[in-house]
Amino acid sequence: MTASTEFPVAVFSTRQYDRESFGHALRAARFADLQLTWFETRLSPETVSLAAGCAAVCVFVCDDLSAPVVQSLHALGVRLLVLRSAGFNHVDLAACRRLGIAVARVPAYSPYAVAEHAVCLLLTLNRHVHRAWQRVRELNFSLDGLTGFDVHGRTVGVIGTGRIGTVFARIMTGFGARVLAYDPQPAAEIQTMPAVQLTDLEQLIEQSDIISLHCPLTEQSRHMINADRLSRMKPGVMLLNTSRGGLIDTKALIQALKSGRIGAAGLDVYEEEEGIFFSDLSESGLQDDVLARLLTFPNVLITSHQAFLTREALQNIAERTLQSLLEFRNGEIAAEARLV
Ligand code: NAI
Repeated sequence: MTASTEFPVAVFSTRQYDRESFGHALRAARFADLQLTWFETRLSPETVSLAAGCAAVCVFVCDDLSAPVVQSLHALGVRLLVLRSAGFNHVDLAACRRLGIAVARVPAYSPYAVAEHAVCLLLTLNRHVHRAWQRVRELNFSLDGLTGFDVHGRTVGVIGTGRIGTVFARIMTGFGARVLAYDPQPAAEIQTMPAVQLTDLEQLIEQSDIISLHCPLTEQSRHMINADRLSRMKPGVMLLNTSRGGLIDTKALIQALKSGRIGAAGLDVYEEEEGIFFSDLSESGLQDDVLARLLTFPNVLITSHQAFLTREALQNIAERTLQSLLEFRNGEIAAEARLV
């Protein structure tokens, strides 16, 4: 992209919108010796050789950064991984540490983008907008089956009260909902919000009409929404997940949807999304039977990990990523962005 090859970076899983946002950020960054090579393909054992000769690779949530790939990157001379995401559950950080590969992420980018997408899923499902849109296009103007509920006065459970969870909770208080929040380390701001009550996870699970997940995927949080917790939720509860698919045991969710315990599910993430989300499979079809089953429920709304996709968030991601590359080249990545 620029003249010299002093700091070559392989950028994986890129789309047109990435190239546009990085183009804007690059003009402001004045990083003359940076050479970005754009690849649409995801990073995987099969594509890792594309990073040969690069000082760094820049990746997204769908890229494979398991130990064997990290090992191959190291053998190719790569010394820095920059993630265009906040979440890093897809990266083997221990392997990076062992091999001396630095890792940087985008610690915070528009939390509004993700919180507002969760609200979008909530309202679409509640008022059946996805079904109404299809009906009206077929000149079916009937309202049967489209009844929703007032969010005002309902109890909304927010799991994880970091940047995104706090914004989501604030929006819900604006709707006039009662908010229950659970976080082992609740943020300071949420503790000062009058309409928000901090509680434990089990009370939140049992009392909420809507539950929204805003915590990271870790070994502790994997399948936190399991068969037992689903069975203790209020009948007809709405479950929203814009965080990470692995927080929910999907097979247990399907059972709870079949039994009617779960009234609606809005999912921007799926535990086996790798290799499916961000791809056009309209010609090849879907091999994943669990996702195929989920797609058959009229009260399930799935988006393809797009909660982050606003112009503002893309701009934040591009700027912070370039800054991390520059900081690494100059010696030290800022602590807030550095994972390893
Ligand atoms: P954050 O780091 O600001 O907040 C996460 C909060 O979760 C922290 O307060 C932490 O104490 C809490 N937490 C940790 N373990 C928990 C547990 N077991 N139960 C309840 N709370 C727990 O993170 P931020 O920026 O709010 O992001 C939240 C999640 O959203 C990220 O981890 C990421 O997975 C997801 N995300 C999804 C995007 C999308 O496009 N769908 C885009 C950006 C983030």
